[in-house]
Amino acid sequence: MNFETVRVGLGDRSYDIRIGYGLLAQIGIFCQTAGMGGNAVLISNPKVASLYRELVVKSLGSADIKVTDICIPDGEEFKSSDTLLKIFDQMIDAHIDRGAFILALGGGVVGDIAGFAAATYLRGIPFIQVPTTLLAQVDSSVGGKTGINHPRGKNLLGAFYQPQQVVIDTETLDTLPEREYISGLAEALKYGISLDNELFVYFEKYLTAILDRDKECLKQIIMISCKTKACIVEQDEREGGLRAVLNYGHTLGHAVESLTGYTKYLHGEAVAIGMAQIARLSAQRGYCSAAEADRVLQLISRMGLPVELPQFTVTEYENALLHDKKKLSDGVKFVFNQGIGNYKFETVKDLKELLHSCGVRG
Ligand code: NAD
Ligand code: GLY
Repeated sequence: MNFETVRVGLGDRSYDIRIGYGLLAQIGIFCQTAGMGGNAVLISNPKVASLYRELVVKSLGSADIKVTDICIPDGEEFKSSDTLLKIFDQMIDAHIDRGAFILALGGGVVGDIAGFAAATYLRGIPFIQVPTTLLAQVDSSVGGKTGINHPRGKNLLGAFYQPQQVVIDTETLDTLPEREYISGLAEALKYGISLDNELFVYFEKYLTAILDRDKECLKQIIMISCKTKACIVEQDEREGGLRAVLNYGHTLGHAVESLTGYTKYLHGEAVAIGMAQIARLSAQRGYCSAAEADRVLQLISRMGLPVELPQFTVTEYENALLHDKKKLSDGVKFVFNQGIGNYKFETVKDLKELLHSCGVRG
């Protein structure tokens, strides 16, 4: 089998991320090597299940792992307490005990809710992440943030709960719709701009091949993203400080998502707008040069991602920013880029001034 391994070193919660093309057919073996056997609760959604369930069930069967299927509806609105309770109902009906494990097969929505179910069912059973979107492969499946939305806000309920293993089959990206793919690229680029100059240069150099979903490029990008995220999570698992760097571009991005009702932009698209604005602001603050900010903006645009903030007033943006989880008593914590490939935290008190600098009026 041809795959790469990235280790997330967290003491007794350490695990491996396996990355390769065509790994789903070997998922049973991967589960066994992670110490999983007996009963698997396979949580997916109708779209992903129709594409990949059969292959996964067959592979689990050949490793003597019995499968209980749970299918949740597709969409962010179903990352909810209602769906979570329905998952628990089905697990209780199927007499799932502590010897079983959950296998999350899907994008970030499935991974987040399945992970939270694993964290809380019978006070915690093991789980394996099998992410099938680019966003989930470079970000959400790694690092142990699990959770659901509350009617009053995104990801307000959850737990830090690490998987036993993450299996990334890059072949699943062949069926991913173009818009979802490009949105996922934004999350990978985030690591390049804020933490890894080499990754940024790799994007600049191989963008055409990356946009064509070249297998080798994808493996590289996913591997570097996972390594970078693992390195941050190993130092600050529960986001006491450093892990907030992974929110580069997200503070403004979340405001854009919330102001547009989570319907106009995909997550990565909103993050792309946030990253473009932060790059401009970083240049204005002298944290990077105008030429560096320009390279960031150009790359985001060449990817086909948006860079301009949608039109809302300063007050509307300010209110949205003040609801973000990164709000502190003395301001909002922003991550700026220091050059390209490095970051700088700054707690911004005067949000109006920052928004005016982004060209927001009214
Ligand atoms: P998603 O899970 O909604 O998936 C996007 C769409 O792609 C869905 O319609 C899905 O059915 C479909 N899909 C998935 N895999 C496919 C495939 N291989 N082929 C064809 N279609 C496929 O969205 P997402 O972007 O993967 O994840 C977004 C979620 O991730 C949000 O809820 C966000 O809060 C969460 N998130 C979590 C973390 C974390 O650290 N836990 C980090 C970032 C984002
Ligand atoms: N996606 C941000 C984090 O995992 O911390």
